[in-house]
Amino acid sequence: MPRFYLTTAIDYVNSRPHLGTAYEKITADVIARYKRLAGLDTHFVMGNDEHSQNVFRRARELGKDPLAYCDDMEGQFREVWRALDLSFDDFIRTTQGRHKAAVETIVRRIADAGDLYQADYEGWYCVGCEAFKQEKDLVEGLCPIHRTKPDWIKERNHFFRLSAYRDRLRAHFADHPDFLQPESRRNEILSLLESGLEDISISRAGQSWGIPLPTDPSSVVYVWFDALINYASAVGLGTDPALFDTWWPADLHVVGKDITRFHCVIWPAMLMSAKLPVPRQVFGHGWVHLRGEKMSKSLGTAVDPLEAAQRFGADALRLFLTKEIPYGADGDFTFERFEERYNADLANNLGNLVSRVTAMGARYRQGHLTPTASPSRLRDLAETTVGEYRAAMDAFALHQGVASVFRLLDATNEYLAERAPWTLAKDPANAAALDEVLFTAAESLRLAAVLLGPVMPASSQAILARLGDPSPLATRRLATDGTWRAEGARTVAAGDALWPRAESAPVVPPVTAPAVTVAKPGVASVSEPESSPVPSAAPPAGTTAHVPGATPVQVAVAAAPEAEGGVITIDDFMKVELRVGKVLAAEAVPKSKKLLKLTVQDGPESERTILAGIAESYTPEAIVGRTIAFVANLAPRPMMGLVSHGMVLAADTDGKAQLISFETPPAPGTRIR
Ligand code: ME8
Ligand code: MG
Repeated sequence: MPRFYLTTAIDYVNSRPHLGTAYEKITADVIARYKRLAGLDTHFVMGNDEHSQNVFRRARELGKDPLAYCDDMEGQFREVWRALDLSFDDFIRTTQGRHKAAVETIVRRIADAGDLYQADYEGWYCVGCEAFKQEKDLVEGLCPIHRTKPDWIKERNHFFRLSAYRDRLRAHFADHPDFLQPESRRNEILSLLESGLEDISISRAGQSWGIPLPTDPSSVVYVWFDALINYASAVGLGTDPALFDTWWPADLHVVGKDITRFHCVIWPAMLMSAKLPVPRQVFGHGWVHLRGEKMSKSLGTAVDPLEAAQRFGADALRLFLTKEIPYGADGDFTFERFEERYNADLANNLGNLVSRVTAMGARYRQGHLTPTASPSRLRDLAETTVGEYRAAMDAFALHQGVASVFRLLDATNEYLAERAPWTLAKDPANAAALDEVLFTAAESLRLAAVLLGPVMPASSQAILARLGDPSPLATRRLATDGTWRAEGARTVAAGDALWPRAESAPVVPPVTAPAVTVAKPGVASVSEPESSPVPSAAPPAGTTAHVPGATPVQVAVAAAPEAEGGVITIDDFMKVELRVGKVLAAEAVPKSKKLLKLTVQDGPESERTILAGIAESYTPEAIVGRTIAFVANLAPRPMMGLVSHGMVLAADTDGKAQLISFETPPAPGTRIR
C-alpha cells in the first residue's frame, strides 16, 4: 500500500492553542483523513516545540520547573486537539529522548560533512520568532510579527554553512516545481534564494534550556535547528532505523506562511548536509485573522478554539475553516460569519436534506428504499463531483473539494424540489417513480457524506448511519465507498435534526402581522402537512441540539426550515427588511381620503417617499417629526399618480391606524427584527 507521512508545525507551548494554530491542525487533519480515505497508509504527526526561551520564561513566571510546565501544557494541547477530533497517529515533544537522539545524529552528520564552524555572532534576536534578525527585517526597529524590540545579542556560536547550499536548493526547486505550495510562497522563497544566503548560527551560548550541542556541550542547539529535526525523530531517526526507512522522507509538511522559509531553505539544507532525503512537499498555509490582524496570543487577538468548537460542534468549525478560507490564503474569523455559514450550509442545506431524505423514506416506504439503476442527471453530477473533489483534494485546494460536495448537495435538494416525491406519493400509480426518487436522493446524499468524511468525521458517520451504512469511517475507501451504488436495498432512519438552526440575535415578533403563531416544532417522520414539501425536523425552541461529536449546545430559537401549515420560517421573515425612519414632511394626497405622502429620513443622509394609508387617523402635522417603522425593501408601488417606496407599519384597530412607536427613538435606518 502506498504510504503518506505528513506533519504539522510543532507548537510553542508558552500559551494555549488559539484558533490560528488550530486551523493548521484541522486542515492537516482533513488532508490526513482524505489520504486514508484515498487508500494510503497514512502517518500523521503533530507535537510540541518546548525548547523555546519563551517557554522557559513562562515556566519561570509561574514558578514551575520547565519540564513540569511542558508536561502540563501537553495535557492542555491534547485536550483541545481531542475536542477538534484530530486524528494524529503520534505526538512528539522535543524534550523526549527519541528527539534528543535524532538531534544528536543530525548535528554529528552535519559536523562530519564539515558544515559547522565557530564564530562570533553579534546582532538582533527576536525571542517571539526565536530568530536572528537583520536590520532589514525590522520595521521601525521592531519585529514586524511580534511588534517588539528584538534583543541585541553577542555570542560565540556554532554556525551552519547554509550559504554553501544555495545552488543545490535552487536546483532542487527547479527540479521539483511542486516542492513548495502554494505558488505565491514558492516565488517568495525563490527570490530569497536569488538574493543569496548567509550562514546561520545553530547554537545559543550560556543557556541551560535546550539540547546540549553534541560537539560543544557548553552550548545548546538553537531552538529552530532543534525543532525542525522533530519530523525525523518522530519516525525513529537515531532510534529506530526500520521505522525511519518506512516513513522517511516525509510526504508533506503543513506549516504557516511565517515559517515556510525555515522549512524550505534551512531544513532541506540541513538534510542535504546530513545526506538524508529531503521532504517531498511543503504547504505554507495562510493566517487566520481576527479583525484584519493575524490571530496571535502575543498580539492579544486570539479566539479560543474550544469556545468556537462548542458553539456548533467541532465539525461545524472544521467545515467553516476548510470551506470558507481558500487554502493557502488568509481569512477572517468572526462568530457572526460562522453562525451565518452554519445556518446556510448545515441547518438549511445539509441538515435539511438529511431530514427530507430520511423522513420521506420513513414515511412513504417505512425506511426501506428499493434500488434503482435508472440513469439520472443527479447520478452523472455525483460521479463528476467525485472526480472534481479528488482533483481538488490532491492539489490541496481543500476549499474547492468541499465546495464541489456542496454543489452536489444543492443539486440533490433541487432534484427533490423538481421531482416532488410528496406529490408522487399521493398517487399509487407513481410508486415506481417515487422509489426511484427516494433511492437516487439517498444515494447522492450517501456519496456526499462519504466525501465530507475528512472534514466532518462525526457528522459524516452520523449521516451514513441514518442512510443504513454504519460501517466505521476508518474502513471506508474512495475506491469502494466513493462510487455510485445502483444496487443494494437499504434502510434509512429518521432522527433529530443534526444541526438545528441557530439564532443568536434577539428575535422580536413581526410587528405588522395579524396574530402570528409561533412555528410548530415538527418531528421528522410524522408531521408533514399536505402543504409542505419538506418534513420538518427542527426541535422546539430552546431545546438542546445534538451536534455530532460536540458538547450539546443551547440553541435560542430553532424554527422549521421551510413553511409549514401557514406559518413562515425565520428565513422568510428575515427577507423583510424592517427599518426605523423619521418623518421629515407629510402632506395629504389630493383626491385620497386615506393616503398621506410622507418624506421619510431612512438613513444618516438619505430619504424616501412613502405613501401611508393613515390619513383618517393622523393629520400631517401630527406625524411630522415622529419616528416610525417601515418596510424598506418593498418593490416601488404606484398609487394615485405617485410612487410609494416602502410601507409604514401600524396596527389596524377597527379601521383606525396606530403607528408603532419606540421608547427611545433609534437613529433613522436602524434595522428592526
Ligand atoms: O512557529 N493563523 O510555533 P507557533 C494560521 N514552534 N496559522 C497560525 C496562526 C494564525 N493566526 N498563528 C500561528 C512555531 N499559526 C514553531 C514551529 S516547526 C518545526 C516549529 C501557525 O506555536 C504558525 O504559522 O508559533 C505555525 O505553523 C504554527 O501555527 C505553530 O506556531
Ligand atoms: Mg508563531
